[in-house]
Amino acid sequence: MEMLSVALPKGRLGEKVYSLFEKAGYDCPSIKEVNRKLIFENPEKGVRFFWVKPSDVAIYVERGAADIGVAGKDILLEYRPDVYELLDLRTGKCRMAVAAKSGFKDDTRKTLRVATKFSNIALSYYSSKGRDIDIIHLNGSIELAPILGLSDVIVDIVETGATLKENDLTVVEEIVPISARFIANKSSFKFKGKVIEELVCALRSFTEEKL
Ligand code: PRP
Repeated sequence: MEMLSVALPKGRLGEKVYSLFEKAGYDCPSIKEVNRKLIFENPEKGVRFFWVKPSDVAIYVERGAADIGVAGKDILLEYRPDVYELLDLRTGKCRMAVAAKSGFKDDTRKTLRVATKFSNIALSYYSSKGRDIDIIHLNGSIELAPILGLSDVIVDIVETGATLKENDLTVVEEIVPISARFIANKSSFKFKGKVIEELVCALRSFTEEKL
């Protein structure tokens, strides 16, 4: 049987996503063993899983190192990989939002300083509003930027809102809702389309339950 290679995002989201695959009948018991292996296979089910950094999933899939994978909509919007987005898994839900110090008022006469890890999302959001901005690209701890006066606002992911609250920041605008998406490599979809469709179909029945 031809193997389907699956890139899963390491971490809490990946665990949830793997359990969806398990429920859908694409389990791989060896993935639960505690060791330092990076690739896990279940030849009977024809699947091979590997854990990668969440922001790298789309790279593996776009270049065909994985046939399919699961990536956050934030990553897909930011990097626009050339892949098929086949299913919203309705898990890993959060939102992309603009946040600022409580009491912030936008002075539209000035260029807005925006700190973010998601420069492309921020640029296209503000360009659609015709607002001039200066992007300050950071790689983490974005919440610090407005506190230290490095930026006026941030564009970042908000899940529970706890990080913002604990740092005295509030959401000023919502940009887009985010959730985990099932993606496929374009040529894998051409050559292994049937198996991929079957998997999407099986996963769909478990994501619809969550409606
Ligand atoms: C994200 C985001 C916020 C936090 C929001 O960071 O950048 O810091 O989660 O979650 P909350 O609303 O539930 O507090 P993440 O944990 O993904 O790590 P990062 O700092 O490496 O981006």
